[in-house]
Amino acid sequence: MEKSTKMGSNLTGIDMSPIDSKAMIEGAEQYTNIDQKHEDGYSYEQIRRQYIQDSDAVGSVPLPGSIKGAFKSMMDKLKGNNPEMLINKLGERLAFERTGVRFYESFILKCEAKLKEQGIRVPMDELREIRDEELEHFQMLKKAIESMGADPTAMTPDADVSGVAAMGVQQVLNDPRTTISQCLQMLVIIESTDNAAWEVLIKLTEDLGLDDMTAQFQQALRQEESHLHRVKAWYEEAVRTQAKKSMSMSH
Ligand SMILES: [Fe+2]
Repeated sequence: MEKSTKMGSNLTGIDMSPIDSKAMIEGAEQYTNIDQKHEDGYSYEQIRRQYIQDSDAVGSVPLPGSIKGAFKSMMDKLKGNNPEMLINKLGERLAFERTGVRFYESFILKCEAKLKEQGIRVPMDELREIRDEELEHFQMLKKAIESMGADPTAMTPDADVSGVAAMGVQQVLNDPRTTISQCLQMLVIIESTDNAAWEVLIKLTEDLGLDDMTAQFQQALRQEESHLHRVKAWYEEAVRTQAKKSMSMSH
């Protein structure tokens, strides 16, 4: 059985100390009151609202240098449509696929270190194959961005935001204590996001009439669908295997 599900010395629940729980509930009620005023007389909600209204966007889209020939031919293809959102989303996909390679590297390492010990079956050759496909997607996106005359090394706003969103996944995968099934759950999260994001990107390139890109991206989506299908199956098997083991231990 993986360590995560061992019964034992967990003291986090309120039942562990009924005496302290009353004080804890009182404290929670006192400090989570949203009408509570800051010392300058504004409520915290008013202050947060003000920050939201006053703040700038996360970064900006780096536009291609107009002197480049690639940019002109891309603008001809776009027929007056704005390339900004496409560049933003291509940059996001590129960042995500690059991170995906690292996530799989982390998981492969985890499996090499723990797989036998935990008695869970995850085919290592398939993991490496998926990692390699994420890398191919990254390289394909790099070329797509360059074909627009844009810079694939630039961080776009949605690349930034999706990087922030993936930080929790990264922490779980790189924590030496986490189990194979906990990490597989993270892979289900990233592959689900991957699938949804490719679907959006394909709709976008279809709208813009970029047929070559659309065809390439559809091929990537088919691979991502297979990734999701496989990591979900491994995850389910890992969880169910442990549940069966722990049931048989308790009887
Ligand atoms: Fe994937």
